[in-house]
Amino acid sequence: MEKLILPNIPDLHKLDVYEANGGYQMLRKALGMKPEEVTDEVKKSNLRGRGGACFPTGLKWTFMPKNSDKPKYLCINGDESEPGTFKDRQIFEDNPHLMIEGGLIAAYAMGVQTIYLYIRGEYNKWIKMVQRAVDDAYAKGYIGKNILGSNFSTNFYIHRGAGAYICGEESALMNSLEGERGYPRVKPPFPAQFGLWGCPTTINNVETIANVPLILRMGWEAYSKIGHPKHPGPILVGISGHVNAPGVYEVPTGVLITDLIYGNPSIGEKYGRGVPGNKKIKAIIPGGSSTMIMRGDAIEGVTMDADGLKAAGSSVGTAGLIVMDEDTDLIRVITRITKFYYHESCGQCTPCREGTGWMFKILKRFENREATMEDIDLLLDVANNIEGNTICALGDAAAWPVQSMIKRFRDEFEKRVMKSNGTAKRKSPDIVHALR
Ligand SMILES: Cc1cc2nc3c(=O)[nH]c(=O)nc-3n(C[C@H](O)[C@H](O)[C@H](O)COP(=O)(O)O)c2cc1C
Repeated sequence: MEKLILPNIPDLHKLDVYEANGGYQMLRKALGMKPEEVTDEVKKSNLRGRGGACFPTGLKWTFMPKNSDKPKYLCINGDESEPGTFKDRQIFEDNPHLMIEGGLIAAYAMGVQTIYLYIRGEYNKWIKMVQRAVDDAYAKGYIGKNILGSNFSTNFYIHRGAGAYICGEESALMNSLEGERGYPRVKPPFPAQFGLWGCPTTINNVETIANVPLILRMGWEAYSKIGHPKHPGPILVGISGHVNAPGVYEVPTGVLITDLIYGNPSIGEKYGRGVPGNKKIKAIIPGGSSTMIMRGDAIEGVTMDADGLKAAGSSVGTAGLIVMDEDTDLIRVITRITKFYYHESCGQCTPCREGTGWMFKILKRFENREATMEDIDLLLDVANNIEGNTICALGDAAAWPVQSMIKRFRDEFEKRVMKSNGTAKRKSPDIVHALR
């Protein structure tokens, strides 16, 4: 497939190169359309958010009030702090103007006067690169007052995060931008009604926004035919773990997970180039650490898109594919993942604040071979009591990996149960809790 988000054009991050390749022409085109026509194009394209929840982007834009006397805001979410997710970084590095142009088009469509890019604070190098791109775009009149001679004016600010994963959650992000503690807000009211400083706000992921100029360039119909019809378009997949060639790959949605890992010679794509030492795959995490773990023997025929992964009992998340070979200690993996959520829980909701710590403690018992069979059910019970009981989805994100690990790799836990008199303790009764 032709690469649209990350085309192989040297120095594309530079404004003159971006312009020489048609850059900012779609902003010009959008400004010649009515704002609602732009939103309509995006709606018909079927673009779905790339920030994890796959929410339809055009529909989200229609939630913004048309006649509001309050200022409106667009927050581009580049917090990118989930383990296994590193694809927005590639846009910052290779094609920042595509995201800036997409942000300007989105702002025009929604009548937004201020755009914030909330960017992961640790991305020092990329913050500098994006700031340079923003400065250059200001200097050329693409951002600022009366853009390209039109009545449309908007500013673009970069706001650095300070190392908290929770600030990627959209309402915590807004609190953080306001200078408050990064606590998620109770919804409703939703951001389009009561967002930044109580004003209408839309939050979209960096990659989502980078797709917008492509839709205008190709037209919604052609765009909607890329990849999976219900979740179309190019998608950036970050492949990490036990593969020979980890990295970020642009693919059409609907690509087979096995192709992403091993490559597909018939289309000349090598992607991850297989598992080192040709080892078997024990497990994968398909979409960043919060998505449900899958057994390596259950990935055949599964595709990287919302429907494909849902049917396989997981989700596309941020398309951060983590591959684990047959020698991987999955108890260590789940303990490490849980430690992350324990550390990153903002502490506002009791089930998440306490539950993540309890899960970590129980998992440590498995790691140290001090656990009993009953601890497996106890662990699941704690996870089940976090899921769905918190203000934001960080609680779910902490529960899903644990629930899926127990469901799909129960034997790994059983093998780690403390031995008494040299034999493993009695097997616990089957779990009745079904995974949602
Ligand atoms: C704990 C947590 C962290 C999140 N981190 C990010 C992030 O770094 N980037 C992102 O785009 N979305 C993140 N999200 C999802 C956002 O809340 C929001 O759904 C997303 O930015 C919407 O963009 P989209 O509609 O373009 O996908 C996070 C959600 C949660 C619960």
